[in-house]
Amino acid sequence: MRKGKFITLEGGEGSGKSTCMAFIKAWLEENNIEYIVTREPGGTPLAEEIRSLILSHREEKMHDETELLLMFAARSQHINEKIKPAIEAGKWVISDRFVDSSYVYQGAARGGDLAQIDQLAAWVLQGCKPDRTLLFDVPVDVGLSRVAKRAQSDRLDDEPVAFHQMVRDAFLQRVKTNDHYALINAAQSIERVNRDVKDQLEHLKASF
Ligand SMILES: Nc1ncnc2c1ncn2[C@@H]1O[C@H](COP(=O)(O)OP(=O)(O)OP(=O)(O)O)[C@@H](O)[C@H]1O
Ligand SMILES: [Mg+2]
Repeated sequence: MRKGKFITLEGGEGSGKSTCMAFIKAWLEENNIEYIVTREPGGTPLAEEIRSLILSHREEKMHDETELLLMFAARSQHINEKIKPAIEAGKWVISDRFVDSSYVYQGAARGGDLAQIDQLAAWVLQGCKPDRTLLFDVPVDVGLSRVAKRAQSDRLDDEPVAFHQMVRDAFLQRVKTNDHYALINAAQSIERVNRDVKDQLEHLKASF
């Protein structure tokens, strides 16, 4: 059986990742491609419990290392219980965030040790790497003003603007040095973003 493709969506708060999922699902259905969509942190019941631990507000400060390890604990569960079995069954897997977010949030923005993240990634991913990562890039003020309308914000949404700027800069830096990225200008209208995403999906399908 031919393996499925693994596509991840990355980008800062309000860049439109979750919004684009509906378009991606419709495209996969039109093309009769078997797929699952999922998200990080989370994706399985246990990993979603870890997600709530990571994102909820509490009085006790979460140590940066705790956050990093919880992210990778959730990811291990997600990969082994959901992502790998689907890819091996020939399905395409589309994940709203994946390991690149750890390099950017726990690494660049929190000042975590990138070599340590490399070690965790090598251990936990065991070669389960995205075929394509779509980076939804939008200026920080645009992204934050889009999410400001949300009723609830999580622990990471509530970081200062400077944190979100580090996130954007780090993603843009990673695009330059990692060839699995496709840069999507997410400041465009939803229709134009979808059109650019469609080009990427068609490209991947042609190489399948
Ligand atoms: N291209 C766009 N133009 C204008 N508004 C948009 C665009 N894309 C998404 N939005 C709106 O911006 C808001 C945030 O989008 P969305 O939830 O998809 O972002 P996200 O990248 O998933 O954010 P988060 O990382 O916080 O989950 C939504 O209200 C959505 O309707
Ligand atoms: Mg989202």
